[in-house]
Amino acid sequence: MLRGKNDSRDIHIRVFMVVAFQLLSIDMVVSLQKTQHVSGDYFKDFERVQKEILSLIPSNIKIILDVGVGVSTKNLRKLADANLIVGIDTDQGNLKKFRHQHGNDARLALINADASLLPLRSSPIGVALLYFVLHEVNPQKHVVMLSALKEVTQCLIVVEPSPYGCKLYEKFAKIWREAMRSIGRFEEYQPLEYWVKVLKLAGLKIRSAKRVPWQYPVPFKVLETIIRSTIQEWESLGIDYQYIDMMLNFLNNAKYNVFKWSDLIVIIADKEK
Ligand SMILES: C[S@@+](CC[C@H](N)C(=O)[O-])C[C@H]1O[C@@H](n2cnc3c(N)ncnc32)[C@H](O)[C@@H]1O
Repeated sequence: MLRGKNDSRDIHIRVFMVVAFQLLSIDMVVSLQKTQHVSGDYFKDFERVQKEILSLIPSNIKIILDVGVGVSTKNLRKLADANLIVGIDTDQGNLKKFRHQHGNDARLALINADASLLPLRSSPIGVALLYFVLHEVNPQKHVVMLSALKEVTQCLIVVEPSPYGCKLYEKFAKIWREAMRSIGRFEEYQPLEYWVKVLKLAGLKIRSAKRVPWQYPVPFKVLETIIRSTIQEWESLGIDYQYIDMMLNFLNNAKYNVFKWSDLIVIIADKEK
């Protein structure tokens, strides 16, 4: 989203990077001071992808459960017609940060809770959105968590990054995965067939499953900002420097090569009537 109009002025770019958080695991608003031209095509593409995914939520849905608070929550507020958006997250710090950055809203309830242990038996939640969440969850808990969500909603929408993409993307994803595994966390991207399988095992019926591809590569300036922020985050998590070095080497490499995000996997699954 470009704010400045011509090249003589600073251009502030606020990048609402869901995609970054397939990699960063946090919500981030990046303000880039213009030091070189960054094409607007990528940002338009970013908005197109968000709209395409969120438009899958029918307009008659009154309550949406957003599992994992962040960019998806912000976009739901902007794009969804629902009367209430309930954002839940296991990370209290993430909820505080969201409130701090995006303020209060009568349509939004933020709750510090685990999606696999929801204290609800039945509820009027029309849709539960899991936008870039499941890859952070222990794979042994996928079916349990989806089964629990099935009890509180009629429909689940799962959005996950494909593990397959350009060579550079796969390298990036591998460094991330290894870094997270080194501290006992998960960053496990899986192919579409895997998510279909676990949703079915949780007793859900697949309504549709598709991939949403990106049209444009990530501008180097954007990638660099994401990686610098990633490194800060990793330092605060105490991640070993070998992974930070790998990321810096990756960045050097990316300067001379095209980097594109992998397709987004989007699956809609319903509770069997
Ligand atoms: C990569 S972020 C994505 C957040 C958001 N959907 C977005 O689009 O930016 C994943 C979030 O899911 C949260 N999370 C992971 N496991 C969870 C669980 N079992 N219940 C609720 N939230 C969870 C994490 O704390 C993290 O904030």
